[in-house]
Amino acid sequence: MSLSIPLVDLLGQTQSVRAAVDAAITRTLDSGWYILGRETAAFEEEFAAYIAGHSRLAPGAQIGCVGVNSGTDALHLALWACDIGPGDEVITVAHTAVATAAAIMLAGATPVFVDVDPATYTLDPAALAAAITPRTKAVIPVHLYGHPADMETILAVARPAGLRVIEDCAQAHGALVRGRHVGAWGDLGCFSFYPTKNLGALGDGGAVVSADPHLAARVRLLREYGWTPQARYVSQTPGMNSRLDEMQAAILRAKLPHLDAWNEARRALAAVYAAQLPPGAALPVERPGCRHVYHLYVVRVADRDGVRARLQAAGVGTGIHYPVPIHRQPAYAHLPQAQTRLPQTERLAGEIISLPMHPLLTAEQARTVAEALAAALPLTAV
Ligand SMILES: Cc1ncc(COP(=O)(O)O)c(C=O)c1O
Repeated sequence: MSLSIPLVDLLGQTQSVRAAVDAAITRTLDSGWYILGRETAAFEEEFAAYIAGHSRLAPGAQIGCVGVNSGTDALHLALWACDIGPGDEVITVAHTAVATAAAIMLAGATPVFVDVDPATYTLDPAALAAAITPRTKAVIPVHLYGHPADMETILAVARPAGLRVIEDCAQAHGALVRGRHVGAWGDLGCFSFYPTKNLGALGDGGAVVSADPHLAARVRLLREYGWTPQARYVSQTPGMNSRLDEMQAAILRAKLPHLDAWNEARRALAAVYAAQLPPGAALPVERPGCRHVYHLYVVRVADRDGVRARLQAAGVGTGIHYPVPIHRQPAYAHLPQAQTRLPQTERLAGEIISLPMHPLLTAEQARTVAEALAAALPLTAV
């Protein structure tokens, strides 16, 4: 059945910037240069400037950006750049896209899952403190759904323990903590430009940002076999192929100037939802000092699967992000942690439902979704 209000509208978003995207594609086609050229270099500069933008960085700090092939690769390369591999433990959450844990496994390290804060659904810093062992080398907080993890408390726990802090910013382009962009808090910040993201390419793409020039340079080496510009085809270190291609970089350059306005549109819609949604739905929160960018608008409801079916019948698209916590997924069943109880994470998986959220959704449509949810809710609340 075709939905009258879909979860996302990728075609509409492309059409809204069609002229600039067409120009970017034509410019790239006509350049005759398709990998690691001017477009990628320019996008890296522009995205670094965006992240540094209104961020209050330490004096003298500069953000470097390296374009890579995906958000998963960004996380993998960030871990690799920190020399994290076999025998090392990396603490993260099980309530996230599986990519977060997949990247840890790709690096050869062991994911250690901790529970999330019940209000923001992001990594619980107290659980982080309790999970640190002599083998722990890093923590990956995930700015899930567009809400920043509690970076100040996480850093206060991680720094004295000597842990690397790698931020998973795949869902949070433009989110802020006390005026500083996510990605500019830890050692490295990892972004995805998967098409549905707040800043999305028209294919795969990702980026690593860092204020540490040594780490940024390491990621740059590792993304292309350890080659330097001076000595292509000669590897200075083992590496991989994870390049952001020219076409995607050019498209991202066309879209980046709209990111803040798109995020504002998401925030305005979140305000409409907050005013209109029925009391039986537990709404997302925005912690003081944080700017939530609502990559997803996730509420908790009783009888989630029934609610979802009724919304579908009413023409409202929804999603579940994510239905099975990572420590309960077959691929991760061999981990010592597979039997661990993560009560908040496990409860969330059964209650969450993502409502339509994208910059082209109208306030009128958001009100229609709210009415449909009111009609779909059971009598009992979560
Ligand atoms: C939280 C999170 N981390 C990592 C990723 C991986 O990004 P990509 O799909 O670009 O590999 C995603 C996107 O799916 C994500 O949502």
